[in-house]
Amino acid sequence: MSKRALITGITGQDGSYLAEHLLAMGYEVHGLVRRVALEDPERRFTRIAHLLDRIQLHAASLESYPSIFQVVSHHEFDECYHLAAQSFVAESFSDGFSTMNTNINGTHYMLAALRELRPACHFYFAGSSEMFGKVREAPQSETTPFHPRSPYGISKVAGFDLTRNYREAYGMFCSSGILFNHEGPRRGFEFVTRKITSTVARIHYGQATELRLGNLDAKRDWGHAEDYVRAMHLMLQLEEPDDFVIASGESHTVREFCELAFGEVGLNYRDYVVTDERFYRPAEVESLIGDSSKARRVLNWRPRYDFAQLVKLMVQNDLEFVSRGSVGLARRSAGPD
Ligand code: NAP
Ligand code: GDD
Repeated sequence: MSKRALITGITGQDGSYLAEHLLAMGYEVHGLVRRVALEDPERRFTRIAHLLDRIQLHAASLESYPSIFQVVSHHEFDECYHLAAQSFVAESFSDGFSTMNTNINGTHYMLAALRELRPACHFYFAGSSEMFGKVREAPQSETTPFHPRSPYGISKVAGFDLTRNYREAYGMFCSSGILFNHEGPRRGFEFVTRKITSTVARIHYGQATELRLGNLDAKRDWGHAEDYVRAMHLMLQLEEPDDFVIASGESHTVREFCELAFGEVGLNYRDYVVTDERFYRPAEVESLIGDSSKARRVLNWRPRYDFAQLVKLMVQNDLEFVSRGSVGLARRSAGPD
């Protein structure tokens, strides 16, 4: 009998890679999507267009408990991966209320519906290294205290606590991944890595002349999303639920990312990158580096991509995109960056 999984946020970067990974393992894959997305598949389903004949999509809103209850009542789900969230940190400073509402209540609704209808379902919560915020130690592990620095980070700490509390109070199988930044060719254009690689490609083809960025000295621990969704699945296969840091263990500045990305097309980033106050955040997470030794030991998880491979792959992908005329289109539909 194949297992049945429900993925919230299946239209996002991670949701699309996870759906592929689960399908390859013989899972029956269901996705929870917004009704507006179902009505606008051409624009909203770009990351899962190639999977549409193999997955089942259900309309629901993270802001509505009855709609989530309805989807959860449809099928006996074995695993639920709760990935849907307002995930852009900068946007959470602009609209903290809706970020909190979607990310905290959405997580609470999912947990409450599962408790009511599917208490045996294994639940994954998409926690974040952004929860460490103003870091208390380096590298950060499962025991490092949280000090979030954005409404997004605060919402993820609340989701993490809710997930742990459902595990402790109701004995449900609820696990959180504390994932450090992960990227790839399907990354949204508002995030710094894709903003850099897509602009490098446009500069290369004469469609842009500069790249405007904020804090070039911020340090992140970047990996490839394909590697990170494998860890999500491994966490739900354990005998007992637990929380895991997933990270590469290497930290690089935004500046280093630029240097490598521009270098891919033989350019010097200093000639094109302009710093712009608009892209600084009211409170910054200056430096993140993860210690994923627990995941490596218990889950036997290892990343397959390193930093240099990731940058190269993303630049090559965007060069292809721009040469086909696709990046301009995608950027217009991606919202503010
Ligand atoms: P993403 O590409 O931004 O995808 C977010 C997903 O959430 C999309 O499918 C989006 O649907 C959905 N969503 C947003 N608001 C919603 C709402 N109100 N109702 C229903 N669905 C909603 O994010 P990602 O990079 O795949 O990340 C997946 C999860 O991991 C997120 O929870 C994120 O916070 C967390 N995380 C990500 C990273 C990372 O580096 N990527 C690291 C740590 C944690 P639409 O397509 O309809 O907008
Ligand atoms: N987006 C963006 N745009 N970031 C910039 C820019 C810019 O123009 N210039 C500098 N940065 C810096 C940000 O200030 C931040 O320090 C760093 O680049 C990374 O920003 P993002 O790519 O937007 O990612 P993030 O680290 O804030 O958040 C991502 O990773 C988290 C895990 O740590 C998101 O995927 C979150 O959802 C995720 O939880």
